[in-house]
Amino acid sequence: MNIREALHSAAERLELNHVSNARLTAEVLLAHSLSVEREYLYAHDNRVLREDESRALEDLLRDRISGVPLQYIVGRQEFYGRYFHVTPAVLIPRPETEYIVEAVLEIRGQTLFSATQENLGLAPNFQAASPRILDVGTGSGCIAVTLALEIPGAQVFAGDISEAALQVARENAVSLGATVGFVCMDVLDAFTGRFDFIVSNPPYVRPGDNSRLQREVREHEPHVALFSPEDELAIYRRLITGAEALLEPGGHLLMEVGIGMDERVSELFKARWEKLETKTDLQGIPRTVIAKLL
Ligand SMILES: C[S@@+](CC[C@H](N)C(=O)[O-])C[C@H]1O[C@@H](n2cnc3c(N)ncnc32)[C@H](O)[C@@H]1O
Repeated sequence: MNIREALHSAAERLELNHVSNARLTAEVLLAHSLSVEREYLYAHDNRVLREDESRALEDLLRDRISGVPLQYIVGRQEFYGRYFHVTPAVLIPRPETEYIVEAVLEIRGQTLFSATQENLGLAPNFQAASPRILDVGTGSGCIAVTLALEIPGAQVFAGDISEAALQVARENAVSLGATVGFVCMDVLDAFTGRFDFIVSNPPYVRPGDNSRLQREVREHEPHVALFSPEDELAIYRRLITGAEALLEPGGHLLMEVGIGMDERVSELFKARWEKLETKTDLQGIPRTVIAKLL
């Protein structure tokens, strides 16, 4: 069987088994099994597959059809323009989490708008040159590594309760050339020192809502990354109390929330905080709750 025929038959099988984006998935799987980029498939579509290559493709197809997420099969996911290595020990980074990165950059004045302000001779927002940033529940390290790379001079630290996740995050920091200090810890318990930003995308699905998750997510992504304790606000309360002790006055806490949780989380901020506008995603869903410590 040549590449063209293999792609056709793989896409047909994926479609029959209700796998979304069947043709694209077939291309990604075949390219992965041949260790080539997708473009290669079109330039060499008459190349006949060897027996071992056909078998490798067959194994990948079986995994995908049984529900293993494509990202775990190929071992990577894009986040804020960079590829992060992912394994079943970490949550697959989601596009909506990029809003945390965007919001930190906006608060620092690292946006197009603030560049325009500067060109017009207006004073940009004053921000510490080497901000100290802490990411709680870092998973693949996508937020911490991205902030370390986007903010030159930033001192970035990241924690997770899962040592297996931290191992993946460390690998990502090394391969992407970011300097991040990683610590195994329960929320903020192990940390001392002062920070300008604390960011977190904590687990926020209630165990009772398990059946609402897509099967693929429920069966393959780490439960410690998905499920909160029965009281899904508990981790947010701990983050807020911990941040009160660790943030510099004027420092910011940014937290991703699940659908419909933004108001309840916003109400947890008491007198010591100035609540800023929650960021919504492209569908208008409130996603990133932001507050400034007074
Ligand atoms: C929703 S995932 C977020 C991962 C990554 N930051 C991202 O946005 O893709 C939540 C992460 O929090 C970690 N976690 C869960 N409970 C924790 C706790 N009590 N203390 C620290 N980390 C925790 C999980 O291991 C997981 O990596």
